[in-house]
Amino acid sequence: MELQKTLNWRYAVKKYSDRKVTDNDLQKIIEAVNLSASSAGMQPYRLFVIENSQLRKELGANSFNPQITESSHLLAFAAYENVTPEMINEYILHIAETRAIPVEQLDEFKTALGFFLGRTPEENFIWSSRQAYIALGTALIAAAELKIDTTPMEGFNAQKLDELLGLHEKGLKSVVLLSIGYRDEEKDAFAKLKKVRLPKEVLATVV
Ligand SMILES: Cc1cc2nc3c(=O)[nH]c(=O)nc-3n(C[C@H](O)[C@H](O)[C@H](O)COP(=O)(O)O)c2cc1C
Repeated sequence: MELQKTLNWRYAVKKYSDRKVTDNDLQKIIEAVNLSASSAGMQPYRLFVIENSQLRKELGANSFNPQITESSHLLAFAAYENVTPEMINEYILHIAETRAIPVEQLDEFKTALGFFLGRTPEENFIWSSRQAYIALGTALIAAAELKIDTTPMEGFNAQKLDELLGLHEKGLKSVVLLSIGYRDEEKDAFAKLKKVRLPKEVLATVV
């Protein structure tokens, strides 16, 4: 029930106050992203916390999203452009180390992950982007639990961000942004608007 109240409290903020999110709270949001579910547990994305105000200015130039420059922090979710044998090897070793088991015990799982190597980079990128969006949802809810406001944003120049952060060299592409901070209740026209949602019966079908 508490969670429903929290979900009703949150909204996509347009106008932020100057209040800063503490590093302690930022770390909690990052940890929630890290705990997010992902297909095969591969976490095929990375999170960038953009603190550099010049970078934010460049990214926010000519954007319809002032939140890119005006919020406390800006998070960028970037998904891997492909799945490589190295990524699979690294993941398998990480599981073996974390769970203190012989790596051979994971042979069957490793073979199953070979499935990704038979797909096109485009297919793998669609898949990795979806995983990044699940992480976005986790971050958004985690922030709301801390009474921290957010705005998920697809309205940004992804190519520009990729260049600014050198993402292509890392095998990554940016997919979605999340600004975090505290709403300016007085100045944000969206702050008091009623939530627009479907009737539950339209959304969900019981068969
Ligand atoms: C993937 C995604 C992309 C979005 N992109 C933007 C955006 O670029 N700018 C913006 O102001 N809001 C953006 N939104 C916010 C939505 O417009 C908002 O979540 C929706 O209208 C529902 O309202 P609420 O979140 O305030 O309840 C985005 C939301 C999602 C989930």
